[in-house]
Amino acid sequence: MLQYRAGPGGVASGELTVPGDKSISHRALMLGGIAQGTTDITGFLAGEDCLATLRALQALGVRIERPQDQHVIVRGVGANGLRGASQPLDMGNAGTAMRLSMGLLAPHDFRSTLIGDESLMRRPMERVAGPLRLMGADIQTQNGRPPVEIRGNTKMHGIEYVLPVASAQVKSAVLLAGLQSSGVTRVKEPAPTRDHTERMLRAFGVNVVQQGATASIEGGQPLRGTDIVVPADFSSAAFFLVAGCLAADKPLLLRNVGINPTRTGLLQLLLQMGADIRVHAHPNTADAEPIADLEVRKSRLKGIQVSESLVPLSIDEFPVFFIAAACAEGETRVRGAEELRVKETDRLAAMADGLTVLGVDNQLYPDGLAIRGGTGFNGGTVDSRGDHRIAMAFAVASLRARAEIEIFDVANVATSFPGFVEIAQTAGLRIETV
Ligand code: S3P
Repeated sequence: MLQYRAGPGGVASGELTVPGDKSISHRALMLGGIAQGTTDITGFLAGEDCLATLRALQALGVRIERPQDQHVIVRGVGANGLRGASQPLDMGNAGTAMRLSMGLLAPHDFRSTLIGDESLMRRPMERVAGPLRLMGADIQTQNGRPPVEIRGNTKMHGIEYVLPVASAQVKSAVLLAGLQSSGVTRVKEPAPTRDHTERMLRAFGVNVVQQGATASIEGGQPLRGTDIVVPADFSSAAFFLVAGCLAADKPLLLRNVGINPTRTGLLQLLLQMGADIRVHAHPNTADAEPIADLEVRKSRLKGIQVSESLVPLSIDEFPVFFIAAACAEGETRVRGAEELRVKETDRLAAMADGLTVLGVDNQLYPDGLAIRGGTGFNGGTVDSRGDHRIAMAFAVASLRARAEIEIFDVANVATSFPGFVEIAQTAGLRIETV
C-alpha cells in the first residue's frame, strides 16, 4: 500500500500551478458528450476521477480524443445520441461522476448500471434517486447505495424540488435530468453550493434562470459544443494556501486558481484567522469561471468559530482547514458540517483520529470538530482511510511537526491531484512516497 513520509523542517514558497478543477472537468466532459459538435477542453484534470467520467462517456458511445494529458476533445453526440453501455459503468472513487451521471442517464432510452470502488459503493445515492423518481425516473439503489440500476425513461417531466441538503451534486443531477425532461425544472437550495453546472450550461448555450436560491431550466434545449478553459482547482490550491500560512518564509504564488465564490469559503476562513493572502484577480468575462493568482505569506493564525453559512462553500477544504486550526492560537470550532461524514470517508472521524495521534487536543461532534491549536504536531502514523484529501492534509501538517509523519493508504491522491508529491517537493515540503 502506498504511503507518504513527510519530515519536519520543510518550507512552502515559490510559484506553483496546481492541476485543473475536478468539478469543472467532470462537467465539461458530460456536457460536451451530449452537445452538438465539438467541445475543446484545456486545463483538464487528468486525475482518476475525471478519467472515470471520460471512460464512461466513451462506453456510452462518445468519441473522445486526448492530444495531451490536459487537452481533451469531445465529439458530442447530441441530446439523444448516447447509447447503452454493454458493461456496468465504473465510476471509481468519484461521487460527482456517479451522481451527475444518474441525472444524465435517467432520461435516455436504455438501461445503465453504475458501480464504483469500495468507498463509492458505501456512499448515499438516494439523495439523487429520490428527486429523479419524482421526475418519472426508474432507478434502484441497494439500501440507498450503489450499484445504481437505471431503466431509462424518455418521458420524464420537470419538477420543483427543494434540496433537503445543500449539495451541488444533487442540484446538478436534477438540472441535467431537467434538461432532457418536458416542462420546467426548478431546484431550490437551502444554502448556496457550487454553481459550475449552471455556469457551464450557459456556456453551452442553454438558458438557466437564477432567481434567489432557485435555478430553473426548460427541458429540450440543445447544447452547442464550445471551448472550455479549466482553471486550476481551488480545492487543490487549498493545501498550499494552508502550507503557505504555516511555512512561506518567502511568498508562495499559486497561479490561475479558480475563485468562483461558491468555492472559496476557505479563503474567507483563513483571512478571518489572520492569514496574509492576497488575491490578484484576472480580468473576467460574465459567465465564465473567475480566476486569480493567490499570494500567501507565513502568517500567525488565531482560532475562530466557523459560521455555518461558510460550510457548503468550503466543504472539501475542511481536512486541511483542520490542520490550519491545529496551528492557530486558541480554539477553532466547526458545527453544522455533518456532510463531512459521507464524503470519500468520514472526514470528521478520520481527521479527529489523525489529530489525536499527532497530539492535537480535539473534540469530535456528530456534526463538527473543535480543535485547541497552537502546539504543533508530534510525529506519528496516521491513516488516510484511502481519502485523498485526508492524505494531503496530513502531509501539510509536517510543516509544523516535531518528527516525521507517516501517512498510510495514499494512492487515491491520484483521483484529484496527480503530481502532488512533486509539486509539494518543489515548494519545499520534505515529502516522499514509499
Ligand atoms: C461536488 C460537490 C460536492 C463536493 C464534491 C464535488 C461537485 O459534493 O464535496 O467533491 O462537483 O458537484 P456534495 O454535492 O455532495 O456536497
